[in-house]
Amino acid sequence: MSKFLKSVLADNLAENELQYLYSSYDIIGDIAIIKIPDVLVHKKKVICDALLKNVKNLKAVYMQSGSVTGEYRLRDLEFVSGMEIYLTTYKEYGCKFLVNVATSYFSPRLSTERRRLSKLVKDDEAVLNMFAGVGTFSVIMAKEKRIKITNFDSNLDAFILSVINSKINKVDGSISSVHGDAKILLESDTYKDKFDRILLPLPEKAHEFIDVSIKCLKPKGGFLHFFSHVKGDEKSSVIANSEANIRKLFGRYSYQITHTQIVRAVAPRIYQTVTDLFLVKDCI
Ligand SMILES: C[S@@+](CC[C@H](N)C(=O)[O-])C[C@H]1O[C@@H](n2cnc3c(N)ncnc32)[C@H](O)[C@@H]1O
Repeated sequence: MSKFLKSVLADNLAENELQYLYSSYDIIGDIAIIKIPDVLVHKKKVICDALLKNVKNLKAVYMQSGSVTGEYRLRDLEFVSGMEIYLTTYKEYGCKFLVNVATSYFSPRLSTERRRLSKLVKDDEAVLNMFAGVGTFSVIMAKEKRIKITNFDSNLDAFILSVINSKINKVDGSISSVHGDAKILLESDTYKDKFDRILLPLPEKAHEFIDVSIKCLKPKGGFLHFFSHVKGDEKSSVIANSEANIRKLFGRYSYQITHTQIVRAVAPRIYQTVTDLFLVKDCI
């Protein structure tokens, strides 16, 4: 458990209750979201009030039940403390993002990965972000390099916020956002052979989009940044498990894995990973 959480709750929870608290919570702008284990749900008000009182500039605290769910990957939130606001401004690497925590996916825990990809991308590339959400990866990449990015998202709220976020950060000349289902959009030939690099940040389902994404890489080939959820009893086995999975999924293609890493832990013994692959399309 974080020392901070333990210290602010030391007066309100018994020692045996403190041990059940999860180790962290998310701060998104002036909103905090915390998961509370079942045994402590009856103390949710005490826990959320303590966060509200002790974290600077916080306006609202929500309890999140379970993981993100559904096509739009939304959190199930219960308002507990402060003001019931859902729209907030989150800042990362000098960029500002308008986020609605109830109607669109957003995680501050991907910031290191956003930064990593913004360093990998090269000037003049055409990039597709197949599951762009509110546009965080795309804005940070477009701020860093002179590129053209196309965003897809099937969630209308996320799409609208991605358009706004491109404008707020003055990269709307580099980013075009499209509302729709990536599979349907890519099945037409509009995007065939168009991209140097494609992001698939939908770990639960990215495997369903392999064929359609490869079709849209340029004929000379290109990079895929492929996100997965991988089991691993030992953290050290996760990279190997992830690459074994990639070999199964991409078996009929000619590719080279250039990098795999753990992005974050998502549940006990389950990790989100990202693999960078270069696909040699001419050989297909
Ligand atoms: C895990 S979120 C990632 C969002 C964003 N890349 C980020 O990291 O903040 C996945 C996003 O994909 C969108 N999505 C899910 N299925 C989709 C589909 N078939 N076509 C387009 N977008 C989809 C969801 O609405 C959600 O915004």
